[in-house]
Amino acid sequence: MFDAKIYTDRRNRLISEVKSGIILILGNPEASYNYPANTYAFRQDSNFLYFFGLDHPDLAGVIDIDNNKDYIFGNDVDIDDIIWMGPQPLMSDQAAKAGVNNTAPLKALPEIISEAKSKGRKIHFVPPYRGETYMQISNLLGIPIGEIRNHVSVDLIKGIIKLRSVKDEFEIAEIEKAVDIAYEMHTTSMRMAKPGVIEREIAGTIEGISLAKGGPVSFPIILSVHGETLHNHYHGNTLTLGRMLVTDAGAETTMHYASDITRTVPVGGKFNQRQKDIYEIVLEANQKTITATKPGITNKELHLMAAKIIASGLKNLGLMSGNVDDAVAKGAHAMFFPHGLGHMLGLDVHDMEGMGENYIGYNDKVKRSEQFGTAFLRLGKEHQPGYVFTIEPGIYFIPALIDKWRSEKKFTEFINYDKAESFKDFGGIRIEDNILVTETGNKVLGKPIPKSIKDIENMMSSGD
Ligand code: GLY
Ligand code: MN
Ligand code: MN
Repeated sequence: MFDAKIYTDRRNRLISEVKSGIILILGNPEASYNYPANTYAFRQDSNFLYFFGLDHPDLAGVIDIDNNKDYIFGNDVDIDDIIWMGPQPLMSDQAAKAGVNNTAPLKALPEIISEAKSKGRKIHFVPPYRGETYMQISNLLGIPIGEIRNHVSVDLIKGIIKLRSVKDEFEIAEIEKAVDIAYEMHTTSMRMAKPGVIEREIAGTIEGISLAKGGPVSFPIILSVHGETLHNHYHGNTLTLGRMLVTDAGAETTMHYASDITRTVPVGGKFNQRQKDIYEIVLEANQKTITATKPGITNKELHLMAAKIIASGLKNLGLMSGNVDDAVAKGAHAMFFPHGLGHMLGLDVHDMEGMGENYIGYNDKVKRSEQFGTAFLRLGKEHQPGYVFTIEPGIYFIPALIDKWRSEKKFTEFINYDKAESFKDFGGIRIEDNILVTETGNKVLGKPIPKSIKDIENMMSSGD
């Protein structure tokens, strides 16, 4: 945990955002896997971690703004728990580590909530994302499960997002640790990417690195020679020469801060000319948008900059034609780059996304596009110092999308479909880094992970 003062300070700042009422922040319970007692690895709720720090199941945090009191609800262990789980500190000692003086058993939670409700006080909570939490909120507040989303507190959502979006030095140090673990994962993947290896052999090895060096992976590993499928979790292909291997993987630290890195490498360790041609375009989009990152620029501007670099590079290769600005304005590039440039990163790999993507990524000044491709940009708004986010451009040759757009005669003035046909066996390339916005510009977090063609080829041959 961080110092108790950090949690107290965060709660005080949240109080000044939300102003009145009572804030309910539920920790996560265990979640069953294939029978009740066999559970997934426990993951605490990120808001609970942020404001209360304690990392075990069945806790609830309450901030009573009007009475200037905060509480942690949770049960002290009894002898049965000790037999199965070993001795645990008293709840009051645990709460003190988060700067909280008031503790009570979980059974007291309904009392404080129903008392506040009976007095007509506002009870603030954020959208739940697990079935158990839906039931808990429904029971506590008497709201039918299907209506819970209509009762969430926008003031609380906005307050939390305002705080969590700006990372302090301790959080940045944690994210750097997570990237350093990702360095080990990705360089291992590079060295293992040889013909004859099955994807799952690499995926399993690098997941083990995450577990051994910090926490679990920050999201299920995406690792495939079919990188044209954006979130490909199938790991049963055998690597063959001529394919590119996309590895999109990150770690959580012991404090649950995430990294999210993508590297794409040629199976066998040497880029052929066609791979080099596409790779250099994606690398240029990655590097130029990183260089352009500074306070005040919007992420939508960075996204469109990447889209133009991609369209221009594809035009040079004869895959696109016409005016690049027009092509991007109309969305023609999205056949090759059908996702957003990136998202916030922190305690969640898509940070805070459970509270509503538009609250995190957009505001009154920057609205979400409705155009295919740019519509999937999770973060569009203006950057501020302390933001941590991903930059992850890519180029993909998705046979089904090429066929669909071709049959619809979409953007025939901008896309050379005959040439695109010849890339249907290519796969995809994505290059993703984790960026901190500083007062004057930006910093790429963590130990640099090879991404130039030369550095990747050197790394891939280093294990031979
Ligand atoms: N890890 C999925 C992504 O890059 O957002
Ligand atoms: Mn990723
Ligand atoms: Mn990402």
